[in-house]
Amino acid sequence: MRSAYGLPAPAEDDRLTHVGPGTPAGELLRRYWQPVALSAEVTDLPRRVRVLGEDLVLFRPLTLTGQSVNAGGPAPVSCLQLHCPHRGTSLEWARVEAGGIRCCYHGWLLDGDGRVTDMLCEPPGTAERLGIEQPGYPARELGGLVFVYLGPPEREPALPWFDVMARPDVELRGARLWGEYAIGYVRDCNWLQHLENVVDPWHLIALHTHISGAQFGGAMGQRDLPDITMETTDVGVRYVVHREVANGNRLRRCTEIVFPNVALIPNIHETGEVCKERDKPTDISWVVPIDDTHVTALTMLAVPLVDGRPDPAFRPGTDTETRGPDGELIRPGFRPDRTYEDRQRRPDDMEAQEGQRPIAVHALENLVSSDRGVLLYRRQLRQQIDAVERGDDPLNWFSAAGPSSSGGRPEPLPTNAYNTVRPG
Ligand code: FES
Ligand SMILES: [Fe+2]
Repeated sequence: MRSAYGLPAPAEDDRLTHVGPGTPAGELLRRYWQPVALSAEVTDLPRRVRVLGEDLVLFRPLTLTGQSVNAGGPAPVSCLQLHCPHRGTSLEWARVEAGGIRCCYHGWLLDGDGRVTDMLCEPPGTAERLGIEQPGYPARELGGLVFVYLGPPEREPALPWFDVMARPDVELRGARLWGEYAIGYVRDCNWLQHLENVVDPWHLIALHTHISGAQFGGAMGQRDLPDITMETTDVGVRYVVHREVANGNRLRRCTEIVFPNVALIPNIHETGEVCKERDKPTDISWVVPIDDTHVTALTMLAVPLVDGRPDPAFRPGTDTETRGPDGELIRPGFRPDRTYEDRQRRPDDMEAQEGQRPIAVHALENLVSSDRGVLLYRRQLRQQIDAVERGDDPLNWFSAAGPSSSGGRPEPLPTNAYNTVRPG
């Protein structure tokens, strides 16, 4: 046996994994709008969020009639640093009022732009005289999600706009498919190892089929080894799986990371029994780093319309709850509240990805041919980090000004994830 004694303990690749202010990957991710909450979560109470290692508070200043929703729709969301500029109390305990948010401790009132406009314990006029401002970031809403932009003000991009959202036959809706967790109930690990899982189709066969029993129904639960290719695309990295399904049809399944951190996963319950062309994902999921060792995901659902209304039978294509032919739950392993023994007997994404350490150490890995998707994504990430450091705009960064032909909004970005089923 090779002794473990005295071996070096290399550090993680902080250039690719760390996300705080001033870190290489953190600066790259700060060039894009990142979703941090559902629109519906910003109510008449402040909403505390942590993203890219920064603590922030979201709120909607009330109208003068005391409502957070007015006749024209909800008031716009503001995003400020979490700790009060007076003596640091968290503004999650503040009161949302007309004109802003009032800190619970000494009653300073901050408006939507962070200006301190009233100080309850000071003589009138003090706030105006001192001109104190709380820093914050731009916040916008799209498709039921609240996005914030944490990057340099002069490089603010357009909001994300992909072909899978820009469809006349869908209604966009924000969702947390896995609660406070990321895809498949992963949370306590670095964002990169979680995102790499999106372009790791081999783990579907090993972890989710051979090791833990068939945790997926449909074509993804087959035990045979399919034909898999990995490739970079114009917008990111994807894998393409070809396989024959039970009735002899051929399934072509493509899953893509839209750079830098969007997972486009087509329907995981596809059986392949019915022929279809380019059935695109209904779920657009952002893998959002909370900090270096925690990750979450927020999803924009493109809910199909039936007779002009959202289809009541719609089910998200990446809903991990999978039932067998008799309605039995065949993927119980995805729940985060299992016993230790059950997790050992039927490990799932949480065990596999969090088990790579809080931050996976690339220097200790032995990458092989089935890790090609991981390699392609890391290479792309490295190249785009370099681009930002050179002063260039990274992949999929589009100016907020946009082309004039689309009224300021860029043309929808063509994406490359889908299920296609053809006769064998
Ligand atoms: S700490 Fe916020 S008003 Fe004093
Ligand atoms: Fe998985």
